[in-house]
Amino acid sequence: MSAHNTNHQWLWGILVGSVLTASSIKVYNQFFNEKHPAHRPRRDSLDESHLCPPGNVRGMEIVDGVDGLIGNTPLMRIRSLSEATGCTILFLNPGGSAKDRVALNIIKTAEDEGILHPDNGSTVFEGTVGSTGISIAMIARAKGYNAWIVMPDDQAKEKYQLLEKLSATVEKVRPVSIIDKKQFVNLARTRAQEFGKEDSNTTGAIGYFADQFENKANYDIHYKTTGPEIYRQTGGKIDAIVLGAGTGGTLSGISTYLKSLIPRLKVYLVDPPGSGLYHKVKHGILYSPFEAEGTRRRHQVDTVVEGIGINRLTQNFDLGFENIDNAYRATDEEAVKMARYLVREDGLFIGSSSAVNCVGAVRVARELGPGHVIVTLLNDSGQRHLTKFWSDDYLRENGIAYELSKDDTVDTIVR
Ligand SMILES: Cc1ncc(COP(=O)(O)O)c(C=O)c1O
Repeated sequence: MSAHNTNHQWLWGILVGSVLTASSIKVYNQFFNEKHPAHRPRRDSLDESHLCPPGNVRGMEIVDGVDGLIGNTPLMRIRSLSEATGCTILFLNPGGSAKDRVALNIIKTAEDEGILHPDNGSTVFEGTVGSTGISIAMIARAKGYNAWIVMPDDQAKEKYQLLEKLSATVEKVRPVSIIDKKQFVNLARTRAQEFGKEDSNTTGAIGYFADQFENKANYDIHYKTTGPEIYRQTGGKIDAIVLGAGTGGTLSGISTYLKSLIPRLKVYLVDPPGSGLYHKVKHGILYSPFEAEGTRRRHQVDTVVEGIGINRLTQNFDLGFENIDNAYRATDEEAVKMARYLVREDGLFIGSSSAVNCVGAVRVARELGPGHVIVTLLNDSGQRHLTKFWSDDYLRENGIAYELSKDDTVDTIVR
């Protein structure tokens, strides 16, 4: 089989994975809206035996339910970036979002610990910029819980719409500092504590705060599944991984697993504007230049990128902090143009944090030189970013250059 055909097969794997996730949600919604039996049959719990066997990637078996589509996602060589840099840049594509497996493990861990019991009216609460909330809403429905999602109100609006279609309760709040009680994570915790206090009918039902930033189940699932999947699919022949961090669970879990097997592996953070993590890695102090210069426009991280960048240290980041060898920044303009470049060259339609990851991969390829294998992740698709990161109007209004000229190359985009 020619290299071209092989690449084509990987691409098809990605498309089929995404479509399956989306249509499962649609079928479920139809079913749920028509009738929701109190005790329809479900598996008792989701365990690792449910995931497809080691070495398999999605598409070789019939899976059971939406949660059966989570995990075992294929690596793909990004043709354009690999050719431009002389490195093999690989990309792990989760079916819908990298957060699906995190949400599944958070809920499963709470069940295993006897905290959550399905079909008793319990509600899972989470503070999120969207991805983890959408994954929680999907899995909560599949397993017999309600979902209550607290989000900052400045995210791409399709994420709120998707949550509502998944029957989650969505509470939007102004983006404020973590020291504020109304900050989205703090409010989700409070809502979980308040749950059921004034309602005598909720006997047995609990409000469970998923707490993706501090909950180690986030790190654990990347350590137990994402890291091993990358190792299996590359045969351990990896020189570097490069990732942005929100909670830090992905970076910490994957890097801890892979560094235990490949001690020479280099681990890189790539950070969007306004985030303090870059400074933390480079100089040991969490600090964003935007804070000092008084140029900051928003209370969170000052970037069009959603899902990565943060100005506090979380347990999930801390768990893998010592693995990080170096850090790079990626500007909004670089991320926006990288995303457009990947559509033009590879037909890849990616979300904002994935674009930052690709900018980081190019910087790492330049540092290491040709002939190396660099792994990064596709966190989600551009479909969740149509009205912001992918909106020309939004970018124009916010002064972010987005137009790609026909002469633009990787070298003119990532400077
Ligand atoms: C779209 C997206 N990409 C990347 C990340 C970062 O992953 P992590 O939280 O594991 O650092 C997130 C986290 O919320 C996200 O929503």
